[in-house]
Amino acid sequence: MSKLWGGRFQKSTDKLVDDFNSSIRFDQRLYKQDILGSIAHAKMLGKQEIIPVADSRIIEKTLKEILTDIEAGKIEFDIAAEDIHMNIEQILISKIGDVGKRLHTGRSRNDQVALDMRMYVKDEIKEIQDMISNLQQVLLNISKENLETILPGYTHLQKAQPITVAHHFMAYFEMLKRDKARLEDTYKRTNILPLGSGALAATTYPLDREFVAQELGFDTVSLNSLDAVSDRDFCIELLNSLSILMMHLSRFSEEIILWCSHEFQFIELDDAFSTGSSIMPQKKNPDIAELVRGKTGRIYGSLMALLATMKSLPLAYNKDMQEDKEPVFDAIDNVKMCLPVFADMIKTMKIRKDRMYEGAKGGFTNATDLADYLVKKGVAFRDAHAIVGKIVFSCIQRDIGLDDMTLDEYKQASAIIEEDVFKAISLEECVNKRNIIGGPSGEMMEKVIRINEEYLT
Ligand code: ARG
Repeated sequence: MSKLWGGRFQKSTDKLVDDFNSSIRFDQRLYKQDILGSIAHAKMLGKQEIIPVADSRIIEKTLKEILTDIEAGKIEFDIAAEDIHMNIEQILISKIGDVGKRLHTGRSRNDQVALDMRMYVKDEIKEIQDMISNLQQVLLNISKENLETILPGYTHLQKAQPITVAHHFMAYFEMLKRDKARLEDTYKRTNILPLGSGALAATTYPLDREFVAQELGFDTVSLNSLDAVSDRDFCIELLNSLSILMMHLSRFSEEIILWCSHEFQFIELDDAFSTGSSIMPQKKNPDIAELVRGKTGRIYGSLMALLATMKSLPLAYNKDMQEDKEPVFDAIDNVKMCLPVFADMIKTMKIRKDRMYEGAKGGFTNATDLADYLVKKGVAFRDAHAIVGKIVFSCIQRDIGLDDMTLDEYKQASAIIEEDVFKAISLEECVNKRNIIGGPSGEMMEKVIRINEEYLT
């Protein structure tokens, strides 16, 4: 079939060029957005009497049939028709001839591709947000059951102070809240209708852009046609939001991987969410967490690819911009694979409370609390820090913990230490004394969980 734009050409396109130039291989997934956009455009053309209303109705009806046919797998796309926009228009014209040829009045493909991508990104943002909410629900449930489950908190991956599983998991809950908010923000700037921008300089037809915006569920219309067909910021913002989301999943993955190592044994992954080794019979590997961590690099790659593609493009549309699709699609697909499997992996893993508690007992995680104990008895914090430092040093020499010291030994270090020191440095006390908003005490975490339960509804 000859090209829809073939009028001014004497030769047909080289086969290599058809293959190289064509995007139908990957942009066919935009078929629905393209058809819905065309239906709204046709309706508006009829309403404005730019084309006969009867024609617009036929176009609308036929486009709906094409949609059904595509979904039934009855349509084979044509590489020579380049992209999804021209494929659908070509099919339309093959069905209704001259009437179909009126659809593209006052519209360009630059218009169409900007519209389709926005519609697609909007839908996907909603889906990804729902998946994040699902993961948040899993974290919240585990936290509710583990308000008192103590584990060591780390800085520099060195034991620092005791916290709880609830405190640790709800930290990720907060990160995911920001991820959802970033996506929401991206959504706002994606929710602007570009259609009506023409190739770059809008159009002479009296299009009713507000009507189209309403038909397609856009908040508002773009205010500069040159910008609207050149803009892929919303794709970059999406990839940025997804990159940060993946960064969070990757950090969590890293902890999961550490925690199920033999050295930690803080958790045990469910058999259904682990894999074995082809040679070492004993192995149970955290492949899911590793692959989520690995895919993070790939999502960053997509962000970098699109930033680099857009970097020097003059206004307005340039064919380079066809390269936006694969990174955006790939990032969306991979994030949508990661989120549910990650949530299920977390949901099914076993928390080894005994191992976590053992871990929190070692490494002097209660040393700060011993210093705070002295402060409460009137010692200046800097002096208390020095006294406890010396006590810790002597314990290290003797290979014992702070709670293994006798009261006499404590008194030698500081005469003001009394019997109540042992309660003050117990892990439970260390956690529950941290009773300000943001802290790990059971009481505070309950409060925070209640706030976040409300946020999720
Ligand atoms: N396939 C193109 C893309 O993805 C659609 C827009 C093409 N416009 C053009 N004037 N060549 O960017």
